Order: sequence, then C-alpha cells, then structure tokens
Amino acid sequence: MKNIPQTIGIIMDGNGRWAKAKGLPRTAGHKQGADTIRTVALAANDLGVKKLILYAFSTENWKRPDDEVGYLCKLPGIFFARYIKELMENGIRVTFAGELERFPKDTQEVIQKAVLQTKDNPGLELCIAINYGSRREILLAMQKYAKDVASGNRENDITEEEVSNYLFVKEDVDLMIRTSGELRISNYLLWQIAYAELIFTPVAWPDFDRECLEQCIEEYNRRDRRYGGLTK
Ligand code: FPP
Repeated sequence: MKNIPQTIGIIMDGNGRWAKAKGLPRTAGHKQGADTIRTVALAANDLGVKKLILYAFSTENWKRPDDEVGYLCKLPGIFFARYIKELMENGIRVTFAGELERFPKDTQEVIQKAVLQTKDNPGLELCIAINYGSRREILLAMQKYAKDVASGNRENDITEEEVSNYLFVKEDVDLMIRTSGELRISNYLLWQIAYAELIFTPVAWPDFDRECLEQCIEEYNRRDRRYGGLTK
C-alpha cells in the first residue's frame, strides 16, 4: 500500500450486538473487543501507522448499567496483564485521552503504569480514549485558554495549531473507522476529523481483524483527499 494514514481513529462499536447474537452476556463482547485491540494494534504497528486512537469509553457510557460499567473499568487491567509484554516486544507506546480521574483508583493505576512502562517505545502510539467526549475536550480547552489569557500567560491571539495543543488529541485524524454499521460520529474527535476520510463498516468490533484494517486502508488509498482544493 502506498499511502499509510498516519493517524487512525476507531469507534469500536458492536460488542453488545455481537455477544447477543451468540447468546452471550454483553460483557463477553467487550472481552472479545479487548482482544481485537491487541490484533489491530499489532497490525497497525506492522503497517507503519503512527497513532491509533480507540474509543474505549465515552463520557456518555456512564449511563450504562452498573455491572457493565464495572466490567469496562476492569478491562484495562485484564488487557494489560495479558498483553503488556507483547506491546513492549513490538515497541508499542500506550497513551490515553480523556479524564481518567472519574475511574476507580486501580483502573487509573493500571493505565498510568502501562503509559509509564511503554513511554520510550518507538513504534505505534496506541491511544485509548477513555471517559472521553469531544465537546467536553473542546470545553476544557476553552476554559484553559481563557485562564491562560486572563492570567497574562498569553495573548488573545490563538491559531488553529494552538487550538490543537489545548486538546487531549493534538493530531489531525487521517482515517476514521466506525464498526458495526451505525452512521454516526458520537462526539468523537470532532475537531481532529475535519479532513478525515470516513469509513463505516458493517463488521462488529469483535470480528474486526488485520484483514479488515488492511481493507480500510486500501479504501483510504482509493480516496482523493483534496482538502477543499482541486485534484492535482
Ligand atoms: C461499543 O459497543 C463498545 C464500547 C462502549 C466499549 C469498547 C471497549 C472495548 C472494546 C474494550 C476496552 C478495553 C481496553 C483495554 C481499553 P456497544 O457495547 O455499544 O455495542 P452495541 O452497540 O452492539 O450494544
């Protein structure tokens, strides 16, 4: 493939429906979905993607039943216990985007430990968006900017690049993928997807694999990215 997107965002949707179709509890879908994170991170790393941003928990997901929220809080611990060695061997760097503070202490600690342990790895940045919502991200950025201006730390002269610097995710997204057939963005990376190519696949996240990622990148290569200009 000639053109590998540097930054890919994924809305990992369909875990619940995948589980229901198999007569399993929704949590089984999330467990399988966590294994898909491993598969897709390794594939993206092999392909030379720089950053993969995965929507693991939105600011709206707190509305789900307590047992499901509880399980989602435990999953990072299960995931890193199983796969941190492999992430290290493959040079993958873990980061997160969102407000970690609302999670239980042990969830915060396992994520921070994975970030610290992998911080010098030179490969893919695997960014977990957790307690993340794009409007909230923009609101927090505005509040921080207003504070910086009011305290005399900076002039009121912000540029588009500097807006990005106030956000959790500073990069522009090249390719945005949503699994499981819904045609929505669901408050994900609204600023960052300004010029992203969007791909909606019917495949449920637990079934998404290396081949699916490669197909999305092939489709991305067929697109003509003009950024509002004309084709060269
Ligand atoms: C959406 O499917 C999925 C989520 C809300 C959770 C995604 C989380 C993971 C894949 C695992 C996270 C693990 C780590 C290590 C961070 P849904 O439940 O909305 O599915 P449905 O639309 O079919 O009900």
